[in-house]
Amino acid sequence: MANKYDLLLESILAQPKMIPKHVAIIMDGNGRWAAMRDKPRTAGHEAGVRAVKLTVEAAMELGVQYLTLYAFSSENWKRPRSEVAALMSLLSRTTRRELDELIKQDVKLITTGRISGLSIARRRVLADAVQKTRNNRGLVLNLALNYGGRTEILDAVKAIAHSVKAGLLDVKDINEERFAEFLYTYGLPDPDLLIRTSGEKRISNFLLWQTSYTELYIIDTLWPDFGRNELLEAVADYQQRDRRFGKVDSKKSG
Ligand code: FPP
Repeated sequence: MANKYDLLLESILAQPKMIPKHVAIIMDGNGRWAAMRDKPRTAGHEAGVRAVKLTVEAAMELGVQYLTLYAFSSENWKRPRSEVAALMSLLSRTTRRELDELIKQDVKLITTGRISGLSIARRRVLADAVQKTRNNRGLVLNLALNYGGRTEILDAVKAIAHSVKAGLLDVKDINEERFAEFLYTYGLPDPDLLIRTSGEKRISNFLLWQTSYTELYIIDTLWPDFGRNELLEAVADYQQRDRRFGKVDSKKSG
């Protein structure tokens, strides 16, 4: 007999137009998950990798095309040095270990953020995975690393100013589309759905420009406990939303 979540998957897949193309996730609650078990915070991050794998698999099952994960923010450097080192090591170890699987699953790995701020060794691991998956046609897995939304906007403003100064861009041609071309996420559609775990109701400097009209979904589940069922519930909830993008609902406005 089909279980509750298989039925939920079936009903989600029956509305293919309402499957979010791009899902972004603020993976929060690793530290609390570990504290509840009297474990160090880093054990929470380690456990978070399992949730990442389950979420990537479920996103593929659903036909989500882009999955952006907030893996390390530009503010995360302010954490204790040992935690930063553990997180960085976990990210590169996981990338190296999962590379064959990513290739096998046709996943294309990309990164968003100031990658130049990472050590050469970490950058090499990431660049290798990006390079080896660049022709893959399945899910685009976007890791936000050393990412900050305000910095991203400032970097875009600076690049635009340089282009104007160099005579490559006319001020009158700067519009929303042109501006977005200068963001780290150039080429990616804006997220349709933003999930935040652990109950915090904040954007935390994540994709500030790109989430203007994104649907928000906040759940109390801590990130290491997130998985297929939770993603299915989030997408089913998204399918009930009425996305108007500032307009009135044509069906209701008469
Ligand atoms: C937030 O929890 C989580 C992070 C800052 C790191 C997220 C990283 C992973 C899940 C590791 C693996 C990722 C990949 C892509 C391989 P928190 O530490 O802020 O938790 P707290 O709010 O309970 O303290």
